[in-house]
Amino acid sequence: MGTTTSINGKEIFDLLRDDIAAIEEQFGHDTVSNVAAITEIGEYLRAGGGKRIRPALLLLSAKLLGYQGDGAVKLASVVEIIHTATLVHDDIIDEAQIRRGRPAANTQWGNSMCVLAGDWLYMQAFKIAVQQRNFRILDVLIELTQQMVEGELLQMEKLGKLISLQEHLDLIYRKTACLFSVCMRVGGILGGATEQQEERLGLYGRDLGLAFQIVDDVLDLTASESVLGKPVASDLREGKATMSVIHALERCTPAERRQIETILHDRAFNGVTHADILTILNRYASLEFASKEAARYAEAARQAICIFPDSEFKRALLWAPEFVVAREK
Ligand code: IPE
Ligand code: IPE
Ligand code: MG
Ligand code: MG
Repeated sequence: MGTTTSINGKEIFDLLRDDIAAIEEQFGHDTVSNVAAITEIGEYLRAGGGKRIRPALLLLSAKLLGYQGDGAVKLASVVEIIHTATLVHDDIIDEAQIRRGRPAANTQWGNSMCVLAGDWLYMQAFKIAVQQRNFRILDVLIELTQQMVEGELLQMEKLGKLISLQEHLDLIYRKTACLFSVCMRVGGILGGATEQQEERLGLYGRDLGLAFQIVDDVLDLTASESVLGKPVASDLREGKATMSVIHALERCTPAERRQIETILHDRAFNGVTHADILTILNRYASLEFASKEAARYAEAARQAICIFPDSEFKRALLWAPEFVVAREK
């Protein structure tokens, strides 16, 4: 890849420590409203932690291009606020009980308040983004938000149904990879990237985001709730057929197919256990297939940024795909 030394997670954390701290502070300021419930929900979500992978990508992308202004921290907070808003809405839609190892906001404040808090967070993100006076960035963020909402809606329409791999990839692009791609592009726009550079940054983000969601969906099937910080096997219970399940459905016997369909249709494990599903997935090496696909996208992400000269920021970006594929939560 043209890089001489590799970099590890701790070194990246050191590299971004001051900026990440500034983003946390910015996020804290940005989510204060005159209405206490909004501030409380925003603060509850911020304090719950999260990997902060999206703001980190935006920062790295801006720094890769040599950007030194304060817009990167502001916009990194913006993308984390957008992410937070989507999680608040997603947990209402999915009727999730747990997020980031604690009760999901909807279980504490109720759906109605959380819908409005999510709306407020979206608009707040745009209010801060507007301050950059950059139409390209606004264009990209507006397009993104619509893609994400369309993704959630499309997913809803497909719940309980068997979808093709192509339909699945389109969904995970919209709901996850598009935001990753936008984080990289916004960093690039700040740093004055050329058209070709912005395209490469966007491809990196897209492929990394696809890998990220494929891994998220594998972990949903294989991890434990205590490690993951959210319930496991929730996708099947929510009627979502993810990559490994789609792979198995295309290969399994009619009886096995009925078992999977029962869960997707009933949205519950009625007479079929999580272990039964894992047995089917293992029989067709379907989890392995999804993990390999994730690794393939992760490698494509690395390739996408080969045009940039070596720097510690590039090395950090080359490391991120490894982290995404190897992560346990
Ligand atoms: C959760 O994203 C939503 C998905 C796209 C799977 P993250 O796994 O990045 O969530 P946090 O921010 O670290 O909690
Ligand atoms: C979340 O998708 C993606 C969003 C854009 C909100 P999921 O429903 O699969 O994410 P988790 O598993 O709840 O984090
Ligand atoms: Mg969900
Ligand atoms: Mg999930």
